Amino acid sequence: MRNKTVLITGANDGIGRATAERLARKGAHLVLACRNETSAQHTADWLVEHTGNRNIDTLPLDLSSLRSVRDASEIFLADYPRLDVLINNAGIYCESLELTEDGYELQFGVNHLGHYLLTLNLLPAMQCANICSRVINVSSALHTKGGIDFGNLRGERGPGAYDGTAAYAQSKLANILFTKELNRRHGSELTTNCLHPGVVGTSLASKKGKFFTRAIWSLYKPFARTPERGADTSVYLASSPEVREVSGRYFNPTQCLVKPSPTACNEQLARRLWEYSETAVRDFLL
Ligand SMILES: NC(=O)c1ccc[n+]([C@@H]2O[C@H](COP(=O)([O-])OP(=O)(O)OC[C@H]3O[C@@H](n4cnc5c(N)ncnc54)[C@H](OP(=O)(O)O)[C@@H]3O)[C@@H](O)[C@H]2O)c1
Repeated sequence: MRNKTVLITGANDGIGRATAERLARKGAHLVLACRNETSAQHTADWLVEHTGNRNIDTLPLDLSSLRSVRDASEIFLADYPRLDVLINNAGIYCESLELTEDGYELQFGVNHLGHYLLTLNLLPAMQCANICSRVINVSSALHTKGGIDFGNLRGERGPGAYDGTAAYAQSKLANILFTKELNRRHGSELTTNCLHPGVVGTSLASKKGKFFTRAIWSLYKPFARTPERGADTSVYLASSPEVREVSGRYFNPTQCLVKPSPTACNEQLARRLWEYSETAVRDFLL
């Protein structure tokens, strides 16, 4: 991965941090795009010290704010001539209805919409001659439980009707629909794949989960995959020559190609989500 620039969202914790460490050891030039700048800087310092790779930068990015995503994109495009690998890894799980700065349901906003805007804004850095950049979207097997409820993407049905797990599943389904539509629209210029990392012992469920979820998760966590193992497929998709020309596909935690749910393969739905997202981020596109 020497001479490759890799941007990882949510690189200060969990799977993203483990992915960053593995790619730093392979010699990549990393850009850690995180909402908490102190935590990002600590991670960068730790990576420099423990991997010996000095090419570790940070980039402030809050995916719950389209303005922040646009600002981060502008900084990246000004500072870096090209982007070889974009890993849309950051994610949240929450059980009460919250909205982003722009009024979208938080999980849809962070897990899908922010990454959608980031990817579109960074396309110029990925469309350089002589490189075939890779976009990697971290989805989840839970996408199978999701549909896209276009009438509730701004929390229109209210907090009483909110089902956090269904909203998470919806956002992870959106990751796969986005992967497939991005491949249909830009597959000749870059590759785009997505993955399920496995059930991984991170803090994802405890950050905004309710007491019961946190309790169950703390019991289960010791039996889950480690973040290092959870990073396996992201690292594979970012670095393996085997997948240089593979695009629009969904991979499981052991790097096997698998078929996502029939809803995730619905081209009409993917196009509709793209068009909805394009309108939602219109004012923040570069
Ligand atoms: N863990 C699992 O079992 C599992 C299973 C399937 C899929 N996944 C997916 O794997 C990905 C990584 O999750 P994880 O398990 O590693 O969770 P994690 O340890 O909680 O890490 C999530 C990362 O996303 C960042 N993030 C959250 N909200 C953000 C925002 N508004 N702007 C920018 N960054 C934000 C977090 O930052 P802070 O540190 O500031 O919170 C953190 O760096 C997610 O996409 C998740 O959906 C996880």
